[in-house]
Amino acid sequence: MTGALGREFIFSDRQFKRLRAFVAEHTGIALSEAKKDMVYGRLSKRIRSHFAGNFQAFCDAIEQGDAQEQDFLINAITTNLTAFFREAHHFDYLRQRLIPELLRRNAHSRKIRIWSAGCSTGEEPYSIAMSLAGDNQLAGWDIKILATDLDANVLKHAEAGIYSEERISKLAEQQRQYFQRGRGSNSGLVRLKPEIRERVSFKRLNLLHDWPMRGPFDLIFCRNVVIYFDKPTQTKLFDRFADLLVADGHLFIGHSESLYKVTERFTSLGNTIYRRLS
Ligand SMILES: C[S@@+](CC[C@H](N)C(=O)[O-])C[C@H]1O[C@@H](n2cnc3c(N)ncnc32)[C@H](O)[C@@H]1O
Repeated sequence: MTGALGREFIFSDRQFKRLRAFVAEHTGIALSEAKKDMVYGRLSKRIRSHFAGNFQAFCDAIEQGDAQEQDFLINAITTNLTAFFREAHHFDYLRQRLIPELLRRNAHSRKIRIWSAGCSTGEEPYSIAMSLAGDNQLAGWDIKILATDLDANVLKHAEAGIYSEERISKLAEQQRQYFQRGRGSNSGLVRLKPEIRERVSFKRLNLLHDWPMRGPFDLIFCRNVVIYFDKPTQTKLFDRFADLLVADGHLFIGHSESLYKVTERFTSLGNTIYRRLS
């Protein structure tokens, strides 16, 4: 049976407000009023199977600290859309401008440290790893990419490094060489080769909480993550990134994001690429 507004279950404004408050506090994502239908859509199956259609009981579980339901809510709300070599100009810049700079700057240590913050299912850190693997001058260098996300499900997927073939159909042959094709029951799937997977380590991390790592990083990618964060949360986060970058370290953000009036710790190099100010 379908109730008001075509919904199967009652989802009141008050209940939506309770869930929004939890999501804002734990993820930094500020859900607007307009997102009520989206939230309903993402939760309704769970509300049916675990709460007999009672949103009130779900809200109570969240507020009473039910970790399983809290994780479910966070995973359902965070949007995990991503792609290999998404916003390709960032990877062009990395190969053409930054690798030569890093070869000079880090010639002594022969070490490169990169953080992909909000890595979703892994396409971003693996694209970084593939970009670096394509440069022979980096052979023998100690390169580590830390990839973190809040959502445990996407991290599991990322760690496996297995994707449907269709996800790489538009990549150039040069990029596709880093994937192994599945056979038999795995046909239609591809897996990143070990030489790429080994460069990336995945960890669960909420960007709003304390960070266990001390850095410093040469580059940080935090793309399409802060779109729903409010301004003060963004300021705090980008300033913490600045603290963890080397002097002159670079920060890459998403196409619809900007540091304008958010932080003065970086200078813009154009195309959503920034350099830390010393
Ligand atoms: C749209 S994806 C972006 C993936 C990738 N960076 C890209 O641009 O293709 C956003 C990711 O940020 C993660 N995220 C959202 N809020 C977060 C938080 N507070 N801490 C850590 N990760 C978060 C989500 O789980 C999601 O996987």
